[in-house]
Amino acid sequence: MLGSLVLVWIFICILFLFIRIQRPKNFPPGPRPVPIFGNLFQLNIANPLKDFERFAERYGNVYSVYFGGRPTVVLTGMKALKEALVTKAADFSGRPQNILISDIREGKGVILADYGPAWKEHRRFALTTLRNFGMGKQSMEERILGETEHLVARLEKGSGGFVNPQTMFHEAASNIIYLVLFGTRLDYEDATLKQYFQLFTENFKIANGPWGMIYDTLPMMRTLPLPFKKVFKNYYTTEKLVGDMISKQKASRVSGEPRHFVDCYLDELEKRGDDGSSFEEGQLRRYIMDLHIAGLETTSNTLRTAFLYLMAYPHIQARCQQEIDEALKDKAQASFEDRHNMPYTHAVIHECQRIAYTVPTAFHCTSRDTELMGYSIPKGTFVMANLSSVLSEEGQWKFPHEFNPANFLNEEGQFEKPEAFLPFSAGPRVCLGEGLARMELFLILVTLLRRFQFFWPEDAGEPDFTPVYGITVRPKPYRMGVRLRQPAREM
Ligand code: HEM
Ligand SMILES: *[C@@H]1O[C@H](CO)[C@@H](O)[C@H](O)[C@H]1NC(C)=O
Repeated sequence: MLGSLVLVWIFICILFLFIRIQRPKNFPPGPRPVPIFGNLFQLNIANPLKDFERFAERYGNVYSVYFGGRPTVVLTGMKALKEALVTKAADFSGRPQNILISDIREGKGVILADYGPAWKEHRRFALTTLRNFGMGKQSMEERILGETEHLVARLEKGSGGFVNPQTMFHEAASNIIYLVLFGTRLDYEDATLKQYFQLFTENFKIANGPWGMIYDTLPMMRTLPLPFKKVFKNYYTTEKLVGDMISKQKASRVSGEPRHFVDCYLDELEKRGDDGSSFEEGQLRRYIMDLHIAGLETTSNTLRTAFLYLMAYPHIQARCQQEIDEALKDKAQASFEDRHNMPYTHAVIHECQRIAYTVPTAFHCTSRDTELMGYSIPKGTFVMANLSSVLSEEGQWKFPHEFNPANFLNEEGQFEKPEAFLPFSAGPRVCLGEGLARMELFLILVTLLRRFQFFWPEDAGEPDFTPVYGITVRPKPYRMGVRLRQPAREM
């Protein structure tokens, strides 16, 4: 039965092969597509980066490729990105809809919600809530510092030997988001969290593999019982887990005295009543999942890249440590404010973010017919903004292709941030967690560098900086040598 159905579909697909694809009028140029598959045959699926580079060289900073039947505009370099994301923000701030990863969310949450009132209301709510240092009894900074102490304890145990930074930073990033959302850290071995990660990982694999592509490019296949059905099922299971966590909070909350993000949302729900706004519990569930996902790999991958470079450049690490010692003196803990007294360390952290380009691409969608650098782009066109191209763009950086904190220091050694520093993107869709992420990176790096020295294991060969590509970029796995700093600090 399934076999013959598939055959019929394949036959229909082959029919389509004889139809020619025409780019819309005055659309950005690009390689010639074939029906159904678009430019897929011109892309090395395992590593399309070289092909994208080639296209950009050949067709310019605004060009188009077809993923299946769908044209996608690719933006390279700061000029094109700024014009689209900032100058023409109202035209370029949508998100692709009607694809697998947005369909499972039913347009809710924030990451993949389209440009419109529901997204706007929810984004504003989160920004205010995350900025609100009175959220519960603990400030954001205290929450991060508390989690950092757990990292310190772990490293103390491992000092004199080697640690695996992968799980360590993943766990820290997860706990910090969890603290913000639910007010407690969660045991990493917690059965619910394990199930949550496992379902999520499975979904990620399917959605980013061939079945995801088939769902996205061949809508006629969607009704068939294929593996993408599993993605929906898994997603509903995770949503239910989150629903249970919310119920627990409901049982213990006191209206008007929020302890964390979830309480703030529940208060907001109460306050609004039936005002016709987009606030409702289904949104909250997806919002929680979105914030958790968005803040996890991003932060932990950036930390892993940072420590890789700090080990590979011991003199840069030592200079940070000297500056941190001088700036903090006898203070028990660092605070985010201290960054103003640590221009060099602050520059190093930014340089780590630049060289890591943890989120290489921002995926947007045009929300109305528009123009960009002389080309016409219709409503609903997918747009890929190449953030990593800006982070290493020649002409924007003193040392675009090397790890060098001088990229963020002026002649007087003061911190200075070039306009092309866009690891969080720009415009209305700019990373919603930027404030939190910057605070995490600073407090974790400063606290750990103050207490420990990190070194590359002698038996591990030369450090390999080649990044592993994906939705987020990460370094290859490595081990980290750690010892208490000499002379030992009395604490
Ligand atoms: C080093 C860490 C991080 C990096 C490099 C990063 C980067 C980004 C980038 C590039 C985007 C896409 C912007 C666009 O579409 O133009 C984004 C979106 C987003 N990020 Fe982050 N992020 C980081 C950490 C976080 C954290 C900790 C949170 C959690 C609170 C977070 C929450 C979000 C959300 C919710 C969005 C979607 C915003 C929207 O669509 O309106 N991010 N981030
Ligand atoms: C983004 O730009 C970088 C550097 O120019 C390039 O290597 C990469 O292939 C580009 N990626 C995309 C998706 O265009």
